[in-house]
Amino acid sequence: MLALTEVADDPLALTSRLTLNDGSDVVFRPLVHADAERLAGFLSALSVESRRLSTFDGYDLATALELCDAIARYDKLRLVLEEVPSGRIVGLLEFSLDLHTEDIARYREAGIRLAATDCRFGPTLANDYQGRGVGTQVFPLVTDVARRLGRKRIILLGGVLADNPRAIRYYQKNGFQLAGSFIGADGVRSLDMILDLDSMQEA
Ligand SMILES: CC(C)(COP(=O)(O)OP(=O)(O)OC[C@H]1O[C@@H](n2cnc3c(N)ncnc32)[C@H](O)[C@@H]1OP(=O)(O)O)[C@@H](O)C(=O)NCCC(=O)NCCS
Repeated sequence: MLALTEVADDPLALTSRLTLNDGSDVVFRPLVHADAERLAGFLSALSVESRRLSTFDGYDLATALELCDAIARYDKLRLVLEEVPSGRIVGLLEFSLDLHTEDIARYREAGIRLAATDCRFGPTLANDYQGRGVGTQVFPLVTDVARRLGRKRIILLGGVLADNPRAIRYYQKNGFQLAGSFIGADGVRSLDMILDLDSMQEA
């Protein structure tokens, strides 16, 4: 089972190149320290709507530096999609290996007992990469990472806003099931969804 420190020491262990449906290539790889400026470019270019659907602490170089500084220091694994040949970061895919007590309580209400072998996942694509099937084409790499980290199920990091139909459809078509709904701190309704990686393998 891969540890986050091993990924940080050898990012190539989780690096793959993917040819998208339109024939262009992207590289899927862990975020590395040298990415700060490019990550800031990705964050700052996100539209107001993308920022509403997928919220970060900030959208500038300071935030990008914080995310790079967090590599292998906490429970997070961040992967990026890098456009070839420009090197532009066009996606940020986040895993959290720790569960929040609020998540555990909400899922318990839905009859689901979360465990240490579960992880949380949140994807964000650059505006011009959304709605082109890219998230789905990358998804087998996402589940592969989760499995290599020893995870059996994936839940959504912070849920998905109930008024984000594209993301809900995206999760559903990639095997997630609805687990419940809740009102977030901002007063907006979100949905909890869960994917069982073992049942995917059997499918
Ligand atoms: C969510 C996200 C990662 C999905 O990746 P993607 O590449 O855009 O998704 P895909 O194109 O693979 O799949 C989207 C599906 O939703 C469908 N869809 C698009 N708009 C839709 C809408 N308004 N209502 C219902 N379905 C919609 C698409 O047709 C597609 O389904 P299909 O293949 O059955 O036709 C990406 O859109 C994104 O980064 N969005 C902004 C940030 C965000 O919302 N992140 C998730 C936070 S929880």
